[in-house]
Amino acid sequence: MNYRHSYHAGNHADMLKHAILLRMAQLLQRKDAPYCYLDSHAGTGLYDLAAEAAGKTGEYLDGIARLWSRSDLPPMIAALRDAVAQHNPDGQLRYYPGSPQLMADLLREQDRMILSELHPEDAELLRQNFAYNPQVAVHQRDGYELPKAFLPVVEKRALWLLDPPFEKTDDLSRSVKAMQLAIQRMRQTVIALWYPIKDQRLLRDFYRQVSTAELPKVLRVELNVRPADNAMGLNGSGLMLVNPPWPLWEELDQVLPWLADQLAQSGAGDWRMDWLVGEP
Ligand SMILES: C[S@@+](CC[C@H](N)C(=O)[O-])C[C@H]1O[C@@H](n2cnc3c(N)ncnc32)[C@H](O)[C@@H]1O
Repeated sequence: MNYRHSYHAGNHADMLKHAILLRMAQLLQRKDAPYCYLDSHAGTGLYDLAAEAAGKTGEYLDGIARLWSRSDLPPMIAALRDAVAQHNPDGQLRYYPGSPQLMADLLREQDRMILSELHPEDAELLRQNFAYNPQVAVHQRDGYELPKAFLPVVEKRALWLLDPPFEKTDDLSRSVKAMQLAIQRMRQTVIALWYPIKDQRLLRDFYRQVSTAELPKVLRVELNVRPADNAMGLNGSGLMLVNPPWPLWEELDQVLPWLADQLAQSGAGDWRMDWLVGEP
């Protein structure tokens, strides 16, 4: 396990993933009924952008730093910036909250969270971050096991972020199988699966697997900050959203073109959004 999110925290992919995740949680909170948030590949929860790891890649400079002091952000992006600002009370961008922290900040007293992180050091940091929060359970275990271990949840509403590091070639197919199991165990589970846009051949096979996995509604959302065939690193990323709450897609229609313009790194940024399964 080589991947450490501390090198990538706050980059363009986190902007897409975290803005949408926060918005989905807000939409679930329109009802008072409780929900359970599951984060199968959780990371540590909070990242110091002044630390060596973030400084080495500087990825956050083309992500959160570009949005940090803007006064013209669309509401979905402003909500993310404001959530990050809570961790930087002096107004200087230094700390970036990962998905578990962002979601913990939103938790109401009736909600709870289940986190899993396999890397021993990151799991320990995660445990320390949430040691005093009785609504948060931290597990050091394989995240793909979460549906089998925890679904269905007693709350009958679940939001699952599936955010593997994609170090191994079978991460895409394991993710599809895990989503399939989650839906078999609890059909109404809302799932966000993040994936990198790198190898187009692998992606075509992945799209085929998702569309034949007997999932209910699946919205595909992608944001490219460089041309998709650029040989360098992460050109963009996507989210497969299973059972996304309305009116997320109507809002994304406005937000994605804006984000593609603001986060483009060479040439024009690009985006797409379509229903891979079951347009409502
Ligand atoms: C992309 S990072 C997570 C970032 C986090 N979800 C966020 O948005 O802030 C992926 C994490 O998965 C962890 N990981 C890798 N394989 C795993 C597995 N099989 N089960 C659980 N965690 C795993 C890595 O150590 C890494 O911290």
